[in-house]
Amino acid sequence: MIPEFAQQNVKRTKGRYDVSNQLFSRAEELMPGGVNSPVRAFNGVGGKPVFIAGASGAIIQDMDENQYIDYVLSWGPMILGHAHPHVIKSVTERLALGTSFGAPTDMETYLADILCTRHKSVEQVRLVNSGTEATMSAIRLARGFTGKKGIIKCDGCYHGHADSLLVSAGSGLATGGNPSSAGVPEEIAKLTHVIPFNDSEALETLIKENQDIACFILEPIAGNMGCIPPQNGYLTKVREICTKYNVVLIIDEVMTGCRVAYGSAQEIYNVEADITCFGKVIGGGMPLAAYGGKKEIMQKLAPVGDVYQAGTLSGNPLAVSAGCATLEMLPKEAYTKLNDISVTIVKEISNILTHHNIVHSTTQVGGMFSVFFQENAPKNFQEISKLHVAKYSKFFHKLLDNGVYIAPSAYETCFTSLAHDADMLNLTFKAVELAAKEL
Ligand SMILES: Cc1ncc(COP(=O)(O)O)c(C=O)c1O
Repeated sequence: MIPEFAQQNVKRTKGRYDVSNQLFSRAEELMPGGVNSPVRAFNGVGGKPVFIAGASGAIIQDMDENQYIDYVLSWGPMILGHAHPHVIKSVTERLALGTSFGAPTDMETYLADILCTRHKSVEQVRLVNSGTEATMSAIRLARGFTGKKGIIKCDGCYHGHADSLLVSAGSGLATGGNPSSAGVPEEIAKLTHVIPFNDSEALETLIKENQDIACFILEPIAGNMGCIPPQNGYLTKVREICTKYNVVLIIDEVMTGCRVAYGSAQEIYNVEADITCFGKVIGGGMPLAAYGGKKEIMQKLAPVGDVYQAGTLSGNPLAVSAGCATLEMLPKEAYTKLNDISVTIVKEISNILTHHNIVHSTTQVGGMFSVFFQENAPKNFQEISKLHVAKYSKFFHKLLDNGVYIAPSAYETCFTSLAHDADMLNLTFKAVELAAKEL
């Protein structure tokens, strides 16, 4: 059932955020920064966050009854749109049977089967509760498997907030130093080596110089510094190098997994990871993530192997049912449709900005896209211009005031869903037109 507010066209009480502002003041008293995850505080774009009352399909409504066409989608998971009837039904039915048992359930095997079927490189999976847990555990597994300590990541890529990965991180940390967070011991940060994204030569040079590298962890399409796709041949070369030097290749598909294609980014670029991390879409908006790979590596995990990793709520029945229900709605054809939606959006936004003589570039893969306010789309973190960041914040607020909610940071990608229909797109383009005029 679609709530009444979502059945109407997007409705505005333009520029009024009174209830959200009041709620934020109280939240700031009780929670650091008033939020439970930093980017939500709007520090990247200035201003105060809107508080969300509910959502349906591609529309999200705040506590002042402003409605927005949502291109954040809970930072990626809501690929079907919000409150999809099939997901709601599955979770509700499951809920009546109890919320957590700390013992195996059949649905966990079903979800594992779905993930293994979709991904050639994944023979076994372990379910966890967040992307952070997936990447952190994947790194421990790679270290346990190889007996080596060093890890490599790319500048501007974000892999969650485990200590080892808070080095030159993207997303909410894109403006930070090294390590990106206080509280990360230098001794731990030193084990993390950083190279530019889209630079396979840097990878090979670093591995040649260092005998102690356990793994290279990589976002196949960077999504935490805006959407930056891999250049032609980059992932193939990365795979070759990791194989040649016996370095475990961890492809972090927490964002891209089951979002950009049926078989994720690995299908698009024809590359196979040793370990793959999933999150976001596979949990359908519930706390669920996973990591998986070849049996030979996964068998190192306890209880069969000696790499320990566990969780009271791992494979939680509600989260698993939301994930399975979401993936059931995503056959191969769904990704063609999603890609078409994103292509239309990016093309029309670009037309409007060009019409207004606004320097920009765009990137897009499947259900992810970005608009950069610079002539050439960046290929790595260093190429993101300060001008883009400043202009993006203005663009964000103009869109917000006109009923379109894009990522509240220049360093984040935007997402599309299957619920973004032609009407939503037309309303989006009207808002972009208004924003472009004022820019
Ligand atoms: C590529 C990638 N890896 C890992 C994470 C961490 O996931 P979570 O926020 O669920 O801990 C994120 C979060 O945005 C991500 O984009």
